[in-house]
Amino acid sequence: AIAAPVLEQPVPAAAAVPSAPREATILFGSQTGNSQRLAGKLANTLKEQGFEVTLSAMNAYKTNNLKKTAHLFIVASTHGEGDPPDNALTFYEFLHSKRAPKLDGLKYSVLALGDTSYEFFCKTGKDFDERLAELGAERIVERVDCDVDFEGPASAWLSSVVEALQSASGAAASAAPAGQAVSAAAPAESQYSRSNPYQAEVMTTINLNGRGSDRETRHLELSLEGSGLTYEPGDVVGIYPENDPALVDQIITAMNWSPDEAVVPGKAGDEGTLRSALLRQFEITVLTKPLLEKAAAFSENGKLAELVKPENKEELRAYTNGRDLLDLLQDFGPWKLSASDLVSILRKLPPRLYSIASSGKAHPDEVHLTIRKVEYEAHGRKRGGVCSVQVSERLQEGDTLPIFIQQNPNFKLPANPETPVIMIGPGTGVAPFRAFLEEREELGAEGKTWLFYGDRHFVTDFLYQTDWQRMLKDGVLTKLDVAFSRDSEEKVYVQHRMLEHAAELYAWLKEGAHVYVCGDEKHMAHDVHNALLTIIEQQGGMDAEAAKAYLADLQAQQRYQRDVY
Ligand code: 2AM
Repeated sequence: AIAAPVLEQPVPAAAAVPSAPREATILFGSQTGNSQRLAGKLANTLKEQGFEVTLSAMNAYKTNNLKKTAHLFIVASTHGEGDPPDNALTFYEFLHSKRAPKLDGLKYSVLALGDTSYEFFCKTGKDFDERLAELGAERIVERVDCDVDFEGPASAWLSSVVEALQSASGAAASAAPAGQAVSAAAPAESQYSRSNPYQAEVMTTINLNGRGSDRETRHLELSLEGSGLTYEPGDVVGIYPENDPALVDQIITAMNWSPDEAVVPGKAGDEGTLRSALLRQFEITVLTKPLLEKAAAFSENGKLAELVKPENKEELRAYTNGRDLLDLLQDFGPWKLSASDLVSILRKLPPRLYSIASSGKAHPDEVHLTIRKVEYEAHGRKRGGVCSVQVSERLQEGDTLPIFIQQNPNFKLPANPETPVIMIGPGTGVAPFRAFLEEREELGAEGKTWLFYGDRHFVTDFLYQTDWQRMLKDGVLTKLDVAFSRDSEEKVYVQHRMLEHAAELYAWLKEGAHVYVCGDEKHMAHDVHNALLTIIEQQGGMDAEAAKAYLADLQAQQRYQRDVY
């Protein structure tokens, strides 16, 4: 028998033992859907335990309910320069404003998603965590900050939360043991997932750019036959890429290692050798602060230990920018580092996400992607994007790629096929709109559609031009406006075309149109956002504040959705 715990305080009769209410609010701030999925997982687990659960995107949550909930769990990712996701913005601003209520008595915990290669790692999650404490709430589980390989730390956080709630609400009330409930969450629809990717055959790979273009953009058609994988327009494909074999070989040579040395638990064939591990399992093109800190222990060159000191934060940032593992190994020798030591400190190679460019209804058992080759010079060497270079230079028809599908609930066509849609997608940002329009074509949808597309040159860079022409002809695409930025003296961008059509664009908004923006976040999406504000201000006769509120309201109603990167 287990001895009863010794209680410090006399307690009233059993029935009256105070136990925390079995109620929780789970809020997510999610751009690509990861936070949303994890929040959903926690919600399911708690519901199975008999909790009354409120699950909501932050912006859709009525903040006056904050005072009424006993437990608050926040799952939030961070983007760009430490920015909250779109669907977290208004909640983030509210909570950090003077309007935020005192939250004494509220118990909470935060799960933060991020990427250690960015300066403001997990900033949104950290801010929420700090601010909730400041408002008087009680942290019942320490915040967990996840790097790109988030599944493990996230499920550890989830288990801790479930455990904490169980002990708080008393064993008698608990319906199921924690471990069991956690593993029972969210059944998979296909056997293939992020952790068990499908080897998809490449049926077609073509360069969409014409001869003489300074860009190369691949249109890939992958087979999903027999995988059980399905998708909706707006969803994304994750690809596990392979590093550049030339770079892998240079690293091995620079360190005088053997490519065939076994460094990780081997599976079949050559898996487990240093060369295959560096090709497929570990990240070698990005330097993160945690990596440099760990590497310092193996460097006999004092400069690295110096660089990772907190007071040299700026120097470290400058060094890591644009450099890779080969630079690190060349710059900070001599090393007392074995091949196994190296792989023990490397980050796993994260999958690359691409917006799907096809409708599953139009192309059963296929998925299409639009991938632009990323190449640049830095620190005297040619460098490139791991996946985009692999796809452009080394991938052949008949090869396979390990992939999974990730739903993106924040980039979805309106439920009503009659609702007008405005799509802004320069460059590869046009990919999901090919999926949207194909879907509407298949559905025979009647709603109006308007596409803004832009790239450098009309002749060589007009991606999917024949598709748009067909869609214009058959009426599924109502309007097409294009901006080719380098065909004229003056740069013209998609937002200039939007401003030229301000009155009509605003009229569409008044008719209930949904607005979608896909592509470059830093410049394009920011400028397009401002163009929308200008249009609303001018055409709606509003001041800047009112226009901002109008657009925020569109966002809260899911009528303004962005898939930006
Ligand atoms: P540029 O390269 O000539 O500057 C797709 O990459 C297209 O987006 C290109 O035509 C590119 O133009 C354009 N682009 C670059 N910056 C932009 C911005 N801030 N807003 C909109 N489009 C932009």
